[in-house]
Amino acid sequence: MNIPLDRHSSTPIYLQIRNHLSRLIQFGKMPSGQKLPSIRALSTSIQVNKLTVIEAYSLLEADGLIHARQGSGYFVNRTITAASGLTLHSTFAPSQEVIISQGEGSFFEQYTASIQARRQRNIIEFSSGFPSISISENLQRVTKRALAKTKDTFFREDFPQGQLLLRQLIAQMLIQQGLEVSTEDIIITTGSQQALSLAMQYYLRKDDWVIVETPTYHGALGILKNLQAKVIGIPMTVEGMNLDLLEQYLKTHRPKLIYTISTLHNPTGITTSQAHRQALIKLAQQYECLILEDNAYEGLKFQPVPPPIKAFDRQNLVTYISTFSKTLMPGLRVGYMVVTGEHHQPLVKEKLLNDLHVSTLSQAIVSEFLASGYYRRHLNHLRINNLQSRNLMLQALESYFPDAIAWTIPKGGLFLWTHLPNHLPIQEICSQALSHNVLIASGAAFFLGLGYPAMRLNFCQRPEDIEYGIKIIGGLIKKYL
Ligand SMILES: Cc1ncc(COP(=O)(O)O)c(C=O)c1O
Repeated sequence: MNIPLDRHSSTPIYLQIRNHLSRLIQFGKMPSGQKLPSIRALSTSIQVNKLTVIEAYSLLEADGLIHARQGSGYFVNRTITAASGLTLHSTFAPSQEVIISQGEGSFFEQYTASIQARRQRNIIEFSSGFPSISISENLQRVTKRALAKTKDTFFREDFPQGQLLLRQLIAQMLIQQGLEVSTEDIIITTGSQQALSLAMQYYLRKDDWVIVETPTYHGALGILKNLQAKVIGIPMTVEGMNLDLLEQYLKTHRPKLIYTISTLHNPTGITTSQAHRQALIKLAQQYECLILEDNAYEGLKFQPVPPPIKAFDRQNLVTYISTFSKTLMPGLRVGYMVVTGEHHQPLVKEKLLNDLHVSTLSQAIVSEFLASGYYRRHLNHLRINNLQSRNLMLQALESYFPDAIAWTIPKGGLFLWTHLPNHLPIQEICSQALSHNVLIASGAAFFLGLGYPAMRLNFCQRPEDIEYGIKIIGGLIKKYL
């Protein structure tokens, strides 16, 4: 294989190789299942170091475009282009109304109802925020190795910022996502919920103005309510937060913080472009506003996404948070934050005061998953399954939902977002669906105050459940339309 390389370009050679192969894969020039040249063969044919090819392949793997098979080499994944016969065009276009409120508080009820439902058998749980469980056979092996390597640490307390090995492995992973960080910038937290809570408590005081996307993650709204912050909900468009409206409110209200989920947004599944990210940080710089970037879902992308907003941050305005809950196991409670500059040390102190440090066993298990390469293989497996499930759900929506319903087309993650006409009795539809063992949650929890009728639908379900569940919901919607 020949790859045209510009050895005088400012783009590093490994990125040029990755970009070239990425284009070939995405335009179907390298079909799914095709074997890539071996590392040795490619390094010889384009005359680069083997490590350069390894770096390029690692990035393609992290992008979800290729996967390694032990002893056999690298192969092209099934990609987004495999969605034959589907309309990959979203009609999602909600009215652009800003909502101002003192935060909302139904997170507790939603969360406990969802846990309760998960324990019931035969429920199709479209309301869930988590992937289906799929890694139990490897968990025992990984846990055993993690225990053997770190058992002496269980009898000691640890540093609040978390284990060095885990921070090193996370830093390596983030560099592949386009975010250059050092281990010193990372603080391990008890899930990203704690990271959100620590950051919001540290940056905000009662009556401070905060910007959120509307709709947004209800767990963040719950924290803001507790803090008695004043919240401005800027509507989402199909491209992300409406930046014109954002600028208006930055001007008039001078908020302290913007909370944003730039990649595979919860609940809409929308991913913003690099231009949107750069415009957002420019506005934050102009109006001296901090950004809290929540990137809980990037590991579940089906195709490359732009680097996080934090990658464009030259003034330490952005605090970045993420988690292993969506990709590995929510029960481990391992998340992390990247904080650079003057806010880093105070946030380490906040973490210490909160719960000293994250469980050393949980940290060791995540480190072992990352270091063994199992995490990467697991993500590839999840992406392939999730992509199939997403396509099945889109197909079912096209078959069973009336035209009046709009939905988003996420390029990864776990759920899509449906927008229903205003007069539909959404609560009634939810309770009737439950009588057919289909659990859906009204989208109301994701809004500050009153939003529009909506549902977040988790597509990580068995094919027959997707077909059955969407048919039931579609039938109920038609009944009330
Ligand atoms: C956007 C977002 N951020 C943070 C969290 C918290 O997750 P965890 O504390 O399990 O990392 C969630 C969970 O649903 C989420 O959707």
